[in-house]
Amino acid sequence: MLRTSVLVWLLAGSPTPQARTNPFPHTPQSIETGRRIYFKRCTRCHDAKGKPVLPTDPGATRPADLTRPKEWEHGMTDGEMFDTLREGTEEMAGFKDKLSDDEIWRVIHFVRSLWPEELRRRSYEDN
Ligand code: HEC
Repeated sequence: MLRTSVLVWLLAGSPTPQARTNPFPHTPQSIETGRRIYFKRCTRCHDAKGKPVLPTDPGATRPADLTRPKEWEHGMTDGEMFDTLREGTEEMAGFKDKLSDDEIWRVIHFVRSLWPEELRRRSYEDN
């Protein structure tokens, strides 16, 4: 009885960024849509393969390596990435004025496609 209520509390509890899931499935089609958004909005600072484009200003922060999500500071679940991209970080402006929420979820699929195979597989089994 107690265990059931704890489970209900966990499932119904306040939505944390980690709990939110991508409304689009991880298919070649959604990766392709995300790729187009990525090439338009992200390749100034993260290259086509997700590697950092080194800033011309030596004092500027180096962009994150998108192929190594475990090194990111703000989390690698879809919900966490959504907040990172929508709201921005201390060092990267958010995209809420430039991308719709749907476009953000789609670009996340492309970013995931840049990850090593074992991380991609595991993350979707966990969801
Ligand atoms: C003007 C440069 C710039 C653009 C454009 C840019 N980024 Fe970034 N990005 C950065 C910098 C710098 C960092 C590292 C600092 C940080 O993590 O706050 C970063 C970090 C990140 C991170 C890791 C955040 C973390 O948790 O540490 C992700 C994911 C990311 N970018 C994805 C994207 C995507 C997807 C786009 C396009 C929609 C994009 N970025 C566009 C500069 C940029």
